[in-house]
Order: sequence, then structure tokens, then C-alpha cells
Amino acid sequence: MEKKQIAIVGAGVSGLLACKYLLLKGFHPIVFEARSDIGGAWIKTVETTMLQTPKQLYQFSDYPWPDSVTTDFPDHNQVLDYIQSYASHFDLRKHIKFNRKVVGIEFEGLSGEDEKSWSFWNGNGQPFGSRGKWTVAVEDAKNHSTEVHQVDFVILCVGRFSDVPNIPEFPPKKGPEAFHGKVIHSMDYSDMDYEAAANLVKGKRVTVVGLQKSALDIAMECTTANGLENPCTVLYRTEHWNIPDYFPWGFPLAYLYLNRFAELLVHKPGEGFLLSLLATMLSPLRWAISKFVEADIKKKHRLAKFGMVPKHSFLQELSSCLTITVPEKFYDKVEEGSIILKKSQDFSFCEDGIVVDGQTTPLKTDLVILATGFKGDVKLKNIFLSQTFQDYLAGSPTEKLPLYRSAHIYIDTLTYQE
Ligand SMILES: Cc1cc2nc3c(=O)[nH]c(=O)nc-3n(C[C@H](O)[C@H](O)[C@H](O)COP(=O)(O)OP(=O)(O)OC[C@H]3O[C@@H](n4cnc5c(N)ncnc54)[C@H](O)[C@@H]3O)c2cc1C
Ligand SMILES: NC(=O)c1ccc[n+]([C@@H]2O[C@H](COP(=O)([O-])OP(=O)(O)OC[C@H]3O[C@@H](n4cnc5c(N)ncnc54)[C@H](OP(=O)(O)O)[C@@H]3O)[C@@H](O)[C@H]2O)c1
Repeated sequence: MEKKQIAIVGAGVSGLLACKYLLLKGFHPIVFEARSDIGGAWIKTVETTMLQTPKQLYQFSDYPWPDSVTTDFPDHNQVLDYIQSYASHFDLRKHIKFNRKVVGIEFEGLSGEDEKSWSFWNGNGQPFGSRGKWTVAVEDAKNHSTEVHQVDFVILCVGRFSDVPNIPEFPPKKGPEAFHGKVIHSMDYSDMDYEAAANLVKGKRVTVVGLQKSALDIAMECTTANGLENPCTVLYRTEHWNIPDYFPWGFPLAYLYLNRFAELLVHKPGEGFLLSLLATMLSPLRWAISKFVEADIKKKHRLAKFGMVPKHSFLQELSSCLTITVPEKFYDKVEEGSIILKKSQDFSFCEDGIVVDGQTTPLKTDLVILATGFKGDVKLKNIFLSQTFQDYLAGSPTEKLPLYRSAHIYIDTLTYQE
């Protein structure tokens, strides 16, 4: 039988795993990686970045962490070493083409109408279609040339948290152009070498926008550089149930949420009558567990004191895959005044700084760091040349391209009912 050719885009954790398991199935995948090395998101991070998931939950099932990593939360260098040694152990490097950026994917061999009728994998529910091939255009950064590859199947492992930053939109003359200071995205800060990043924030009044992991980590780095002399302002719009640790009231969070029993507590798309009935009957337990965790977080972070109690439930936060761990001593810094938390649904720029909702005096600032996340969906969508495939990814909710697993998580989040 003719061997099917499979392309994998990206050599981060996902691309490496896809490669390893395809090899195991007897395929010879070709991996295109835009950068010059393996590791994706972990190749370059903010200096203080650590794994926020306990390492036991961030482990290749067929390749344990080395004994030399004794902490539960390895730093970014240790994570990168671990990912790279996985690739070496399974001899994956030889399948990867580095410095190759995939710039356009197209399906050839189908008429426009046929393409539009696709409902699932190659239009037939099978991994490989009976006609047509994927054409993958790849830019070679070293030779400044473009290669075109024809393959039977493409696995996109391009990551969601890089390359395309989410930059808030502003009315005319109220955006960064109106501001005399500097505005960067967390991605730019993270790309800088550590000394340059520390020098950039040193002695400046910094405002960090966002309240998720990048924002909290960067705010901590600012406060380390500037202390009480130049407090760092964190401008946010939504409070979050960001966790102090994985042991609410000393009880492992994994026992409450990350096991098969916990799955029975939530409604799932396409569930049958019995599962639906069970989830409904167990809803008081679901509510009680959420309150149990919320009480722990409120107490450990003193959220009521700082006006930071979220309006939504912890379960909702967890179901949206938004839960992050708060850097140690973050709320001590808030208490001492070297981090100032400021809530505003909207903000804009003026010459001296930032104007927040309902205030006439601007928040005087020298540097604004937008830790406002990424547009992972746009990045995925733009990799396809044809509008039809772009629409499958970013069209109406009912027309989403069913990305295996990833789509399920997305649908879970959308249809989740508390
Ligand atoms: C700073 C940071 C810390 C994180 N910490 C945690 C954590 O503690 N726990 C946790 O569970 N998750 C964490 N995450 C989430 C993280 O994204 C995943 O853990 C994991 O690393 C994602 O792997 P990935 O392979 O899917 O994507 P990535 O690691 O982003 O890799 C994608 C790869 O695809 C390549 N690529 C992209 N586009 C193209 C293209 N067009 N052509 C060719 N190559 C391309 C990129 O260069 C990159 O190497 C963190 C993310 C970030 C950004
Ligand atoms: N291991 C680590 O230490 C580490 C470090 C960094 C990042 N990460 C991971 O990387 C991923 C990305 O994290 P991230 O923090 O960069 O992005 P993120 O999780 O997407 O958070 C973006 C933040 O920006 C806010 N925001 C977005 N648009 C805004 C707007 N227009 N105005 C004001 N605020 C806005 C969001 O507020 P709302 O909540 O109101 O939408 C949110 O607080 C996450 O999975 C994270 O866990 C991990």
C-alpha cells in the first residue's frame, strides 16, 4: 500500500508528540518548524517563568522527568531541557526541518462546491481522502526560498500563545499613538534578553494591562526592579480565581476535578439521558466543591480585602481552561503598595499615560506593557489560503472545523452549563 505522507507544523510539545506517535504507527512525518530549535513556547520566556502545573501533570507519559529535577515546579530552562531531551531520546530531530515557516496550506483536487460540503476529516470522516492532497507552502528562512510540499494529511501544532498578539482597539487618537511613553506587548518583553528587560522597566512607572499569568509575572518583575519607589500598576477588567497552589484546604485539587468521577459532575455535549440525569442530580455536589475551593482561594489571597473576589464560579474558571497560579508573594506586594491593582472595563491613551473608565485625571505612566494575550484562532485561520477553510476555523460556531480534541475542549466550554 502507498505510504501516506503527513506534515506536522510546529516542533513544540504537541508537534513532538504527534511526530513520535506517527513514527510508532509506521509513518514518516515531516515536521516544519519556523524557529531554529525545538521547544516552542519554552524557547524564550520571561526570566522568572516556571512551570505552573505540577510537573507530574506536565509529563510525557512515556518519558519521566529526570531525577535531577527535584522541584514540583521546574523553571523554564528545566522545562526546555526536558522537552529537548524527549526529542533526542526518541530521535525525533532528524524528522524536523528547522527555520521553515509554513505560510500557506491549501487542499487541491476538489472543486469549490465539494470543498464546501466537507463536514469532517477530508469530507468523508476518514483521515485520508480518496482524492486530492494538501499543498503546504514553506518559507526557508536561511535560503529565502519557498518550497511546496504535497501531503495527505496535515497536523497543525502551531501553538496558541505566540506570534499573533491580542492588541486592544482604541478610538482614533486615543491609542498608543497619543502617548508619549512606550507601549509594548508581553510578547516583546518576553523576547528581550533578561538584562535588557530589567533595564527597560527600571526606574519607570510601569502599567501592566491584564490579570492573567503574563501580567502577574511581569508585574512581579517590575516590583523587584522598582519596589515602592515606582509601584507597578496592574490594570484589569475581570477578577479571576487564580490559585495559590493545588491543595485547597490541604486537599489535592486533582481529586476534586481531574478524575473520572469529576467528569460525571458536568454536562457534556451529546451526553445520553443517564449521564445528563446524573450530572443534574450531582449539581449540588458540584456547587459545594466549587465553593470549597473558592473559600480557600479567598482566604489565602485575602481577595475580599483587596476587592478581588470574582463574580463567576471557580468551576466556570476551570472549565474555561483559564486557571493560573499566582506568583508567590504577589498579594504581599499588593498589600505593601509596590503593586497597585486598578479595575477598568476600558482604557485609552493620552499624552501622559492612561485614561481609565470614569476618571478625568490620567494614570501617569512611562511604560505600558499589554499582557493581553494572543489571537491563537487568527493564527490558525491565516495558515489556510482558501476562504472556505478559514471560515471552517473562524466562521459561525456551527461551522467550526472539528479539530480533534481541541475542538471538543472548545465546545465543552461553550456548552457548559452550571
Ligand atoms: C510562557 C508560557 C508558559 C506556559 N506554562 C505552562 C504551564 O506551566 N503548564 C501548562 O500546561 N501549559 C503552559 N503553557 C501553555 C503551553 O502553550 C503548552 O504547555 C505547550 O508548551 C504548548 O505546546 P505546543 O506545541 O502546542 O505549542 P508551542 O509550544 O507554542 O509550539 C508551537 C511551535 O510551532 C511553531 N510554529 C508556529 N507557526 C508555525 C508555522 N507557520 N510554520 C512552522 N512552525 C510554526 C512555533 O515556532 C513553535 O515552535 C505555557 C505557555 C507559555 C507561552
Ligand atoms: N507557566 C507560566 O509561568 C506562564 C507564564 C506566562 C503565560 N503562561 C500561559 O500562557 C498563556 C497566555 O497567558 P497570557 O497571560 O499571556 O494571556 P491570557 O491568559 O490570554 O490573559 C490575557 C489577559 O489580558 C486581558 N485582556 C485581554 N484583552 C484586553 C483588553 N482589551 N483590555 C483589557 N484587558 C484585556 C484579559 O482580561 P479578561 O480576563 O478580562 O479577558 C486577561 O487578563 C496562558 O495559558 C498562560 O497560563 C504561563
